[in-house]
Amino acid sequence: MRYYISDCHFFHRSLLTSMDKRPFESVEEMNEFMINQWNSRIKKNDEVVILGDFSWGTAEQTEELLKRLNGRKYLIKGNHDLYLKDKNFDESLFVWVKDYAEVHDNRRKVVLCHYPIVCYNGQYRLDENGQPKTWMLYGHIHNTHDQDLIDQYAKVVGKSSHKRIGSGEEAPIPFQMINCFCVRSNYIPLTLDEWIEVEKKRQAALEADEKLLDEASKLAEPETTGK
Ligand SMILES: [Fe+2]
Repeated sequence: MRYYISDCHFFHRSLLTSMDKRPFESVEEMNEFMINQWNSRIKKNDEVVILGDFSWGTAEQTEELLKRLNGRKYLIKGNHDLYLKDKNFDESLFVWVKDYAEVHDNRRKVVLCHYPIVCYNGQYRLDENGQPKTWMLYGHIHNTHDQDLIDQYAKVVGKSSHKRIGSGEEAPIPFQMINCFCVRSNYIPLTLDEWIEVEKKRQAALEADEKLLDEASKLAEPETTGK
């Protein structure tokens, strides 16, 4: 089974007080919680694709950590994976380390990059049922305003269409991007199908929030008297 996760930031103390504001008393407590969550799901022969920013620890600390985590790990490099620059780091603890990769997952194409790619390779490809078959999995932006901007961009794409090559018929533009931010899965690596479900729920919650805001703004509008 293959799983995906991003931006664990093991050993990264500042995430307890800034950015994510993770609810742990210490970085040690955070690390132990994340290791337990990981190992509660992942078995020895499972594959885990890490979408970057895995560890802020030293080469030695990160090696010890990798030995404690179950599964065969594949690393897409993030901007915080600085232990990779230490020539003593044993990179063979990962099956591979890459900046970018494209893999197949149960007949779907998956584009992997730490940074979100809004025009990804294979975006327009459809499967035999006419459904988009490519997913772009990313990390990097955690739960920041950058995700809000991507959500706004997704809406623009959703309202757009394109002419299909060959038939020339107008068709919706596929946009299948998922931020595999570990906090969204309570620090547990998830399968592609599980991430798709997480994303669907997030989108539904966003739509519900928007509807509420819309209704609230209508209520706040001054009544017209007709005079
Ligand atoms: Fe990160």
